[in-house]
Amino acid sequence: MTAGLTISLEGKVALVTGSARGLGAEIARTLAGAGATVMITDILAPEGEATVADINKSGGRAAFLKHDVTREDQWQEVVAKTVSELGGLDIVVNNAGIEICALLEDTSMEDFQRILDINVSGVFLGIKHGCKAMKPGGTAGKGGSIINLSSVAGLRGFAGLGAYCGSKGAVKLLTKAAAVEFGNLGYGVRVNSIHPGLIFTDMGNAVLKGIVEAGLAPDEAATRQLFETLTPLGMTGAPSDIAKAALYLASDQSPWVTGAELVVDGGITAS
Ligand SMILES: NC(=O)c1ccc[n+]([C@@H]2O[C@H](COP(=O)([O-])OP(=O)(O)OC[C@H]3O[C@@H](n4cnc5c(N)ncnc54)[C@H](O)[C@@H]3O)[C@@H](O)[C@H]2O)c1
Repeated sequence: MTAGLTISLEGKVALVTGSARGLGAEIARTLAGAGATVMITDILAPEGEATVADINKSGGRAAFLKHDVTREDQWQEVVAKTVSELGGLDIVVNNAGIEICALLEDTSMEDFQRILDINVSGVFLGIKHGCKAMKPGGTAGKGGSIINLSSVAGLRGFAGLGAYCGSKGAVKLLTKAAAVEFGNLGYGVRVNSIHPGLIFTDMGNAVLKGIVEAGLAPDEAATRQLFETLTPLGMTGAPSDIAKAALYLASDQSPWVTGAELVVDGGITAS
């Protein structure tokens, strides 16, 4: 008989960016539920504080810091405060992100730059400052796990999501380069990416609208139907599906997993 697998993060400290709402909030709740102390960071302060209150009310341990992931000075401050106030750093989840739906020919340079700043530079800074703190000799110094939210849009193209696809493809390879580098240097810092399919958070719902606004579908129902047709398991994905993937990658149950693309998409990229 095989005993059930219980994943514990007891004694670990996690920092989850963009975790005031959506997938990030669910990841934060799940990591806290497994025993981690979680620093929730976001540009949305009231929503972030509400997520913290929710976690603490249900017996978890969480705190909030306002944090724009494109700002290196804020990254330095957030990592330093996490280590000093929560007692270490073992897990960084680079979850904050935005989407922009538009045909490539209609995408402004400003929008393209903005999506790269948040989705790619934000992840780069999280990898950089997370690693510096977690590597041997760093302020936390015990090694750890960095998890980057890419997307199915980092694995295949989607019409109307060109800028977003470009940013998420970059996250995929930044992850692998970091995994190889930190592995070779013996840092004990693993780096993996998660690739969710479409999930109906604020962002997921905005994609349905955006595809219509880009002129690629007559209405939201048609877009939803298109994703339904493309997804072998149907459009039943929930934030908890992504949070469970993050929990596995964050934990000591994945000690030999680095540079991996964990695809959680109901099969949309399999066909
Ligand atoms: N929902 C989906 O279908 C889906 C699919 C694949 C990948 N993803 C990725 O998962 C992640 C979370 O997506 P979501 O659906 O929860 O989106 P969401 O829009 O619901 O939440 C994103 C969070 O990021 C925060 N954020 C935005 N810009 C920020 C910045 N500069 N600094 C700090 N925080 C910032 C927002 O305030 C928000 O709380 C994103 O990286 C997204 O690209 C989502």
